[in-house]
Amino acid sequence: MMWNFVYQEMSFVCGGKRGPFSATAVSMISQLSTLITLLLGELTKQDRQKIMTICTIDVHSRDVVYKFIQTKIESASAFQWQSQLRHRWDEKERDCFANICDAQFRYSYEYLGNTPRLVITPLTDRCYITLTQSLHLVMGGGPAGPAGTGKTETTKDLGRALGISVYVFNCSEQMDYKVGRCVATSHNIADEEGTRGGYSGEVGEVLLHSCGNIYKGLAQTGAWGCFDEFNRITVEVLSVVAVQVKSVQDAIRDKKQTFNFMGDIIGLVPTVGIFITMNPGYAGRTELPENLKALFRPCAMCVPDFELICEIMLVAEGSRTPVFWHESSSPCTPCARNCSLSRTTMIGVYEPSSQFW
Ligand SMILES: Nc1ncnc2c1ncn2[C@@H]1O[C@H](COP(=O)(O)OP(=O)(O)OP(=O)(O)O)[C@@H](O)[C@H]1O
Ligand SMILES: [Mg+2]
Repeated sequence: MMWNFVYQEMSFVCGGKRGPFSATAVSMISQLSTLITLLLGELTKQDRQKIMTICTIDVHSRDVVYKFIQTKIESASAFQWQSQLRHRWDEKERDCFANICDAQFRYSYEYLGNTPRLVITPLTDRCYITLTQSLHLVMGGGPAGPAGTGKTETTKDLGRALGISVYVFNCSEQMDYKVGRCVATSHNIADEEGTRGGYSGEVGEVLLHSCGNIYKGLAQTGAWGCFDEFNRITVEVLSVVAVQVKSVQDAIRDKKQTFNFMGDIIGLVPTVGIFITMNPGYAGRTELPENLKALFRPCAMCVPDFELICEIMLVAEGSRTPVFWHESSSPCTPCARNCSLSRTTMIGVYEPSSQFW
């Protein structure tokens, strides 16, 4: 929020002159340097996590301002600025909003814990724009690409940025579309009359095997659902799923407070979002039916920018010499490229990845 504030102030008050921008960059670097000094000292686990997260976001902000200075972008209406996810405090509404392009989201204040954030790379930015635009147009988002490109994590990270909880579901061929009016007990699921109605097994098992129940829950809580490997679900189930997703989207579009979901009148919290991730072309995957494709905006995910991610992760761990990662002769560059990007791998053992790249 500070970053957005500083930038907007600079560009409006000073008419976007390059001098003040350089001053912004200098103040950002000094703030970053203070954070790194803190990281190198004694901190509790929670404080360290918090400062690392701020550092990760601040390095990105610094790079964006640097790029603006280099490319002489001087207006707050420039696309490069508008395409960034910017948080702001609205005095009139007395609330926090996140803006990106022409989409605007009210911050949802869901407590998500003291968690790390992803490194924002150009690929992350592009995925953010597509997913937020899909929500703006009342559609779902569908990042697709090879394994390990950050499809699931980017969706979760966008949820974190907007203060919304994101539930990730691993889809399988066993998933069905049924909607049960269920009363959950610790060992089984019974219908409203108390008789066993077509469902059996553990609570989690039943809920996780039914797309209909998941959508019902998401619509009533306003949370996001990220359906991993969505194209593993059989095509017969997918065509019914399309009807269910459409009924949720239609209700949001019509600004309803309650709506009819497969015969049940349920409440609607309009922040609900449905996202699907897919590995197209892999074995055992189905082609999505056309009526379902039309409900999701696709986003092609390709290989992430390893050097940038490594550099920013190292800065967030307290390193002050990030430039070393950009040198192609550096022995660490190919190593980074071959590494899985998990934090433990980056700071400790460098083991070759079994992922797609
Ligand atoms: N921008 C980024 N910053 C930090 N880490 C990243 C970034 N992008 C991806 N990663 C890391 O890459 C790893 C793989 O990401 P993720 O699980 O989202 O991939 P995926 O595309 O969903 O893969 P799959 O198809 O196997 O589900 C995760 O450990 C994630 O933290
Ligand atoms: Mg995934």
